[in-house]
Amino acid sequence: MDRAPGLSVRLKLTLSYAGFLMLAGALLLGAVWVFLLRYVPDRAMLKNPDDKPANGVFPVRSVLLDVFAPRAAAVMAFLLVFGLVGGWILAGRMLAPLTRITDATRLATSGSLSHRIQLPGHKDEFRELADAFDAMLARLEAHVAEQRRFAANASHELRTPLAISKALLDVARTDPKHDAGEVIDRLHAVNTRAIDLTEALLLLSRADQRSFTREPIDLSLLAEEATETLLPLAEKRGVTIDTSGDITPTIGSHALLLQLTTNLVHNAIVHNLPEQGAVWVKTSIRPKTVELTVENTGEKLAPQLVSTLTEPFQRGTERMHTSHAGVGLGLAIVKTITQAHDGTLTLTPRPAGGIRITVELPATSPHIDGEKSGS
Ligand SMILES: Nc1ncnc2c1ncn2[C@@H]1O[C@H](COP(=O)(O)OP(=O)(O)OP(=O)(O)O)[C@@H](O)[C@H]1O
Ligand SMILES: [Mg+2]
Repeated sequence: MDRAPGLSVRLKLTLSYAGFLMLAGALLLGAVWVFLLRYVPDRAMLKNPDDKPANGVFPVRSVLLDVFAPRAAAVMAFLLVFGLVGGWILAGRMLAPLTRITDATRLATSGSLSHRIQLPGHKDEFRELADAFDAMLARLEAHVAEQRRFAANASHELRTPLAISKALLDVARTDPKHDAGEVIDRLHAVNTRAIDLTEALLLLSRADQRSFTREPIDLSLLAEEATETLLPLAEKRGVTIDTSGDITPTIGSHALLLQLTTNLVHNAIVHNLPEQGAVWVKTSIRPKTVELTVENTGEKLAPQLVSTLTEPFQRGTERMHTSHAGVGLGLAIVKTITQAHDGTLTLTPRPAGGIRITVELPATSPHIDGEKSGS
């Protein structure tokens, strides 16, 4: 492991442990020395004046210092060694989790996102860091897997119209008697579908980037606009649409939110009962959010199936598939637009059949909007 020149954290910790130990030792020895000085007189008269010094006075303190100093030095030397060795071991133990976290980071950097730190032991700061890191890795791994799936599905979907076009062109080339008008019509249809798919993909990535301008929007107006546009389709399929609701002010991209509403109403019309279907579009306002609910009659749907419908290229049951051959991006676009507007999307199957889809977006009070447009 190459490290930039400089002390390692382990060495720094060791030095500070040893330093503190030395400081404490020095203070203790100092205190002992002061204590000794207080209770030991500077000089003492000897009982027997014939003993050494001529005046009969013995220099107690200087003798004491001679005895004390080497022992104090020995204690300090011991504390130094003890502090360094003990500090090194303690710091190593303290920093061990960090090594595991670093190793996991290196593995993640080299592309292996499946590895987890799974730090054992009590909840402390390191454990929290490791757990947060594991959570991040799990999210990242899921996200990468989703992106890969998406890319694979998108390529597959884009290849289909190209392959069909090629087959049509091959037929036209090898069989000159073939009706050219029919080939052109079918090519046109296949081409339109490819363009629709590409446009849906572009829209998805645009919403995902959140790079749109936000303006005050009334969801109920959008609902009316979308319903009006889709009314001919609904009439053709014998579906009635009922629109109701309050003024629902929010902030967002007009184009994207209109697309969201249109996708929902379009789905409600085409994935409905073969005859006498009904669609209800409602807008309502809550204290902090505004809500758009699109509800429709239709086949009974299992809750497990409903929870997967917002995934890109997910198309529900085969039977529905044949009644309307969509690309399967409508609800994925709705979900991405909702998330880009900090909202939530809820899909609930209706007990009688069909589905109820609710989009909840943050509300803005009409008062604030008024001020904004006034200024
Ligand atoms: N309102 C609804 N009622 C019943 N089923 C629905 C409804 N909306 C969506 N679905 C189911 O969810 C699937 C996915 O819908 P989505 O809008 O993503 O794709 P699509 O409608 O098949 O194609 P397109 O991309 O053209 O919209 C549909 O195929 C359908 O089975
Ligand atoms: Mg759709």
